[in-house]
Amino acid sequence: MDHFHYQNSELHAEGVALRSIAEAVDTPFYCYSTATIEHHYRVFTEAFDGVEAEFCYAVKANSNLAVIRTLAQLGAGADVVSEGEMRQALAAGVAPGRIVFSGVGKKPAELSAALAEGIGQFNVESTAELETLSSLAAGAGLRARIALRLNPDVDAATHAKITTGKAENKFGIGWPQARDIYDRAAQLPGLEVVGAAIHIGSQITELGPFEEAFGFLVAAVEALRGDGHDIRRLDLGGGLGIPYGQEEPPSPAQYGALVRRLTAPLGCRLVLEPGRVIVGNAGLLVTRVIYLKETTNRCFVIVDSAMNDFMRPSLYDARHQVVPVREPREIPALQPVDIVGPICESSDTLARDVPLPPLVTDDLLAIRSAGAYGAVMASTYNGRPQVAEVLVNGNRFAVVRPRQTLAELLATDRLPDWLQADPAKGAA
Ligand code: LLP
Repeated sequence: MDHFHYQNSELHAEGVALRSIAEAVDTPFYCYSTATIEHHYRVFTEAFDGVEAEFCYAVKANSNLAVIRTLAQLGAGADVVSEGEMRQALAAGVAPGRIVFSGVGKKPAELSAALAEGIGQFNVESTAELETLSSLAAGAGLRARIALRLNPDVDAATHAKITTGKAENKFGIGWPQARDIYDRAAQLPGLEVVGAAIHIGSQITELGPFEEAFGFLVAAVEALRGDGHDIRRLDLGGGLGIPYGQEEPPSPAQYGALVRRLTAPLGCRLVLEPGRVIVGNAGLLVTRVIYLKETTNRCFVIVDSAMNDFMRPSLYDARHQVVPVREPREIPALQPVDIVGPICESSDTLARDVPLPPLVTDDLLAIRSAGAYGAVMASTYNGRPQVAEVLVNGNRFAVVRPRQTLAELLATDRLPDWLQADPAKGAA
């Protein structure tokens, strides 16, 4: 369910016509819907009604401060993977105690910063990290609340690049090594062992992999409790998939029911780290047609957004629906076209073989389901300014990240002192 719909033949985000935003901020831009974000958050949290649970929104999915704050106002905590994300969550108003610090490569300086802020839980992924955290915390006279992230060796049946729970992946700690590392953690100063964590991947569209992974986690916790560890927090990660097109992922209610069934006997406080399921279908990328180009066997629609603005199609072969911003008046003859950007490589294809009504230059298109892992993964490749982001709320909208200007883009680089002379002004 989302709040993007046609009204008077124009695609709207809630009460705002996307065309009016395009006129105000130019294209391309990401557009997020507050009502959709709030709806998805409520549906997800309601699936755990009556369960002692914390919802730590995975900031990596969309770290715009306005998005994080929208969720923080509903009571969300945050799952972060860098000091930068921690600062974003704090700036958005998430309480430090509601932040979980995940990630396989937290640098000592990042751990120190998180300790100083009083971050609620560190998900530790290796012995080396455990020892580093212990000495930093002990040195600062603090105690870090830790969970070890376990690797269940489960295939999440998703794209290989976003699978994280197989033994060959860099993530987590396998069994039985984890058992020894828990014993080690209990001996080390500066640490309080509070939980166990898991995250097997993203865009998971079946319950089976979750069932296998959570079953593994429950058995591991029983064994760890038997070893004398007071495991009271169970962090189940994120990963629940969304419909981009034909997919029929389990609903949050089905996912919640599975979680309850498997974890209830432990009596643990749950931590959930949803990202995509909250924001994925709450965002669009709006782009403008620059040129149409027909070759012998393809029809290209060249638009003003590109793989630098939206990496998912190039990186994961992701298929996103593309719809015209002006609703076609009668059922038109749909023609399969390739939506491509201006970037100088063939991977710059945003959508392939999409059936669209006849288009002309300056038409606006919306790439759907772009709220998660869209703007956050954007770059300035090919000298393209960082894309703009807009948040809609009812009949209002606000630019929540202005488009980078060319002056700002140029100002990011520095010339070293031996390159100060301008070659255009004549070499010696
Ligand atoms: N927790 C941890 C520890 C994670 O690594 C992730 C995502 C999440 C939670 C949130 O997962 P979600 O609920 O969003 O599936 N860029 C890729 C997705 C990478 C996901 C990385 N980790 C994409 O565009 O598909």
